[in-house]
Amino acid sequence: MTQWQTRTAEEIVRLNRDYTLFPWSAQSAVDPIPAVRAQGVYFWDAEGKRYLDFASQLVNVNIGHQHPRVVRAIQEQAARLCYVQPALATEPRGLLGQKLTEIAPGNLNKVFFCLGGADANENAVKIARLYTGRWKVLARYHSYHGATYGAIALTGDYRRWAAEPAMPGVVHVFDPYCYRCHFGWTRDTCHRECISHIEEVIRLEGPDRVAALFLEGVTGTNGVLVPPDDYWPRIREICDRYGVLLVSDEVMSGFGRTGKWFAVDHWGVVPDMITMAKGITSGYVPLGAVLVSEPIARHFEEQTLWGGLTYSSHPLACAAGLAVLQVYEEDGLLENAVRLGPVLARRLEELKARHPSVGDVRSIGLFAAIELVQDRVTKKPLTSGPLLSRFLRQEGLFAFLPRNLVFVVPPLCITEEQLEEGLAIIDRALAIADQETR
Ligand SMILES: Cc1ncc(COP(=O)(O)O)c(C=O)c1O
Repeated sequence: MTQWQTRTAEEIVRLNRDYTLFPWSAQSAVDPIPAVRAQGVYFWDAEGKRYLDFASQLVNVNIGHQHPRVVRAIQEQAARLCYVQPALATEPRGLLGQKLTEIAPGNLNKVFFCLGGADANENAVKIARLYTGRWKVLARYHSYHGATYGAIALTGDYRRWAAEPAMPGVVHVFDPYCYRCHFGWTRDTCHRECISHIEEVIRLEGPDRVAALFLEGVTGTNGVLVPPDDYWPRIREICDRYGVLLVSDEVMSGFGRTGKWFAVDHWGVVPDMITMAKGITSGYVPLGAVLVSEPIARHFEEQTLWGGLTYSSHPLACAAGLAVLQVYEEDGLLENAVRLGPVLARRLEELKARHPSVGDVRSIGLFAAIELVQDRVTKKPLTSGPLLSRFLRQEGLFAFLPRNLVFVVPPLCITEEQLEEGLAIIDRALAIADQETR
């Protein structure tokens, strides 16, 4: 037992397992790490074992753990004013709203605060429907937009199935998943059918019925699918042609993860709304937000915004967000992601060259995924992920390994040496994966 706890590791795990439910799991299969403290890119369990956090927990602790300036800002706000309801005005709320509109592209100039990524998307759907008077919404198949009923309806991947029938009115389109092109092309023969078919879907669904298209800035949990450079600009043109609102879900790809404030900034595109959460407070306090364009904000000057939450614009969360945004700037974290991005990309290519189990590597900034296959020709997904997970945990590397993907998404404050430390462990894990290849 360490000085940070009053119960043993086994007791903590037992209490958690006996009295609480864990997400996305059959409960009998969960084997949680009893976490007790953290600092920077590391956290420790109840037996004092240290883990290098290569997942930024759930790709949200972008500034690293326990940043003293953020902890102090939360403590000071808690001592002053923990909570007032959202019809009241507070200083941290106003200042955070102002700051977000300053870092946002173009005319995105007002913010609706909520609690996380899923309800940011829920509220963006509502706003899109109220603003356009239309009700259908498009989203992509290889996407995740959250687990509440509206957000899971937007979600294109397998996590939606258990919640169906979910919110009606969502139509899914295909992705710029170049490694496994839905249309059968290769990078050499590609003619961007992943873009042009979206226009066809809008036409077939009836343009005057389609309110919005939701796209992750860069697709996250489905494998860091970085689109071709003309993807976002051409999607913007299509949406403009049909009066469809373009919503960038930057919940995972925002706040420096890709080296810019928002992923869409790489392509100079201004969406009509940006939804965000995770990195906005780096997970220190729950917060989500919807940034809306000036015309949408103006619409709600006279029209009622039919929506609200008891904890919308929570003062503690807004104070945390303000402090976190200051840390990104003062500690040069976006610059660090820009500097280490190419280092990471190079090391991933080396891993691919050495390990036959690596089918593809994709990255932008400190947002990277390794896609594992049994065979590079058939691209059949590797199934030994659980074995790799166990090895990484044993070696003290905390990583995110859904299905046949290994993510490299460390806090943006990571040093090159720490990055190498984690990649060396992944290198050894891939030797296990190689055994499944033919
Ligand atoms: C792109 C994206 N949108 C939305 C969400 C949902 O966010 P939350 O879990 O805060 O509801 C996630 C979560 O991983 C996400 O990656």
